[in-house]
Amino acid sequence: MSCRRSRAARMLVGAVLAAVATGVSAQIAVRPDDPWGLSIRERRVRVIHSDSPEVPGTSMHLQMTGPWLAYQRGRSYFFREWSVAEGVFGRVAQRSVAAATNSCGMCHNLPFRTPGAGGNTAEPAGHGRNTPHLFGAGLLEMIGQQIHHRILAELDLDRNGFLDVPAETAGRRIRIEAAPGTWVDFGSLDDRDGDGLPDVNRVLQVRFVDADGRLVLRGPEGRPARLGDPGVAGFDLLPGIFASSAGDHQFPTLRVFSNGALRTVMGIPSDDPTSFQELGPRPAESRDGVWARTSNAGMPQPNLQLIRSSRQAQEVALADLAGSMGEGESDLLEWYLLNHPPPAVDRQTEQTRRGRELLATFGCTACHVPDWVLAPADPESGWPGDRRFFHLEVSYDTPRGGLQGRVIDKAERVEGPGGILLHRPRGEGFTVRGVYTDLRHHDLGERFYESHYFRGRLHQIREFRTPPLWGVGSTAPYGHDGRSATLDDVIRRHGGEAEASREAWIQATEADRAAVLAFLRSLVLYQPDVLPTDLDGDGEIAQEHEVAGLPVGPERLQPELLFRVPPRYRGWVEDPDHGRWFSYELLNQREAYGEGLAALVDRDGNMLPDLPSVQPEGPRQADVADDSVEQER
Ligand code: HEC
Ligand code: HEC
Repeated sequence: MSCRRSRAARMLVGAVLAAVATGVSAQIAVRPDDPWGLSIRERRVRVIHSDSPEVPGTSMHLQMTGPWLAYQRGRSYFFREWSVAEGVFGRVAQRSVAAATNSCGMCHNLPFRTPGAGGNTAEPAGHGRNTPHLFGAGLLEMIGQQIHHRILAELDLDRNGFLDVPAETAGRRIRIEAAPGTWVDFGSLDDRDGDGLPDVNRVLQVRFVDADGRLVLRGPEGRPARLGDPGVAGFDLLPGIFASSAGDHQFPTLRVFSNGALRTVMGIPSDDPTSFQELGPRPAESRDGVWARTSNAGMPQPNLQLIRSSRQAQEVALADLAGSMGEGESDLLEWYLLNHPPPAVDRQTEQTRRGRELLATFGCTACHVPDWVLAPADPESGWPGDRRFFHLEVSYDTPRGGLQGRVIDKAERVEGPGGILLHRPRGEGFTVRGVYTDLRHHDLGERFYESHYFRGRLHQIREFRTPPLWGVGSTAPYGHDGRSATLDDVIRRHGGEAEASREAWIQATEADRAAVLAFLRSLVLYQPDVLPTDLDGDGEIAQEHEVAGLPVGPERLQPELLFRVPPRYRGWVEDPDHGRWFSYELLNQREAYGEGLAALVDRDGNMLPDLPSVQPEGPRQADVADDSVEQER
């Protein structure tokens, strides 16, 4: 009964919002005939998840047979404006911010059409949170993944998948080598301050387990579990590298963070068994452990199902299927964010080069660690290496006077079922250069402190993650709260653990400070889809590029130009007023975007593929167990 009532309420809210939304122009329009070729081309279909490439049009098939199409389709989820029929604002009754906006790209959009930086959101109360850019976010995810891998490789001696207390923890510290000779200390595994938690840096989220490796969330009287609780045999550590401080939206993976944003800011439930949604029988491997499944993109997802799955299951059960984001769609969004290239380094001069060296002199690089080395795949230990399918190398081109790119293919071709050609990331090593972060949380003194309510209780947050400085030249204002208007302001705001650095900064000569600022300003973002780019590796960037013998305008990083089925554009058109110009209206959208592939066909336009297996079969089973169990620190 209460279900019916809330559904009616939802419909009413939906109708009101639909009325409001009418006439609002799109963040990035969905139209295949956009003459710039920058809009979203394809209609939304709730792409079906698969973990092997057999069925054409399912997520793994798209990822492996056409990684650029999968990337482009994933990108659409980021920039599209979700409609009420697609579930947007569906959770507004539970959380007012769940109606903050209808597109990821409404916040992350500087520069426009990129998963860039943005303004402040109202939460937490007061100063709010400044929107960070997501260039190179996949590289950050892999750095976190490698930190976790190394912790277990070094300390989990009995290989049971967690750290046994005290056998594998007593007297141990976590020290990780970021690049040759550069070590980052993530703290001690002992509990010297007696708070029931190992004294590790707060970027590492502690997950207690029993002797069988099953999550233990609660101790006696229902309080969060601690060291020494009956049944606690040890713990695992999740590198919660996403989010600027410890708290309820701190996560180790792009996928789970994105699902969270979708849900809490846009009100769209996600239906994602890969990470935390449990509608059917639980897969054996993800039963009760710290980690759920590994995504198609190769990232183990933290197991949130014990923590907060049931409410979400109910939401999806109540929504129409089209009104939630499906697992296959999460696969593609994750694929896009994983592969999205890192920021660029603009023109370098004598001054910027000196500025770069001064960062070390001022002690900035103790926290803003410049480089991290990702090791190549190691099948023995299960380390996958670099999971991306391409890298974009961006550099300043002196003759042209601007940035230019070069696509570096990072996938190998293998033969798949029925002889189809599959692309698989080669898992090479990769040095992430110029990221400038240690990913640790630091106390920079009271000028950064912030208060907020966490589960109804007032907290002061004193520690913040060292933000990567790549892209910082394009992302003013600064600080997790956007309260510093300029780079100089935010550096002077440092204190606490960075007091010595700040002193050095203030005492420095004007010329030295100018050099550092010039270097920081040269760390920039760009618009990939118009970036002049060598796509085919011939060492040139053609003004009149051709794909499959057809003209496509200048060579630039428009993913369509790399699709398996090449795009057919309208091409040169006569405009009675303005003469000849090149139109990117896409004439073969259906073929190029794979809309005829078995699992993508949607004849009735209800956003659900026509394949019978994915049509809803009456009400879905929802897990209604208590979901109030939350891990707190
Ligand atoms: C209302 C504005 C807004 C919307 C909409 C939004 N984000 Fe964000 N996003 C933010 C803010 C603010 C942060 C920083 C949070 C913090 O500082 O802890 C953030 C952080 C992130 C991060 C973590 C980055 C990092 O380095 O810690 C990811 C990943 C992300 N967003 C992805 C998404 C995706 C995917 C969507 C759409 C489903 C989305 N965001 C929608 C404002 C937004
Ligand atoms: C003890 C570690 C530490 C040291 C040393 C340090 N920083 Fe930071 N830095 C941080 C942290 C943590 C933040 C995030 C503060 C916040 O946003 O709340 C930050 C923020 C910044 C930002 C703002 C970035 C953004 O996107 O908002 C810049 C720029 C910066 N630091 C530059 C420097 C420079 C230059 C130095 C040396 C003079 C330096 N930092 C020294 C830890 C450090």
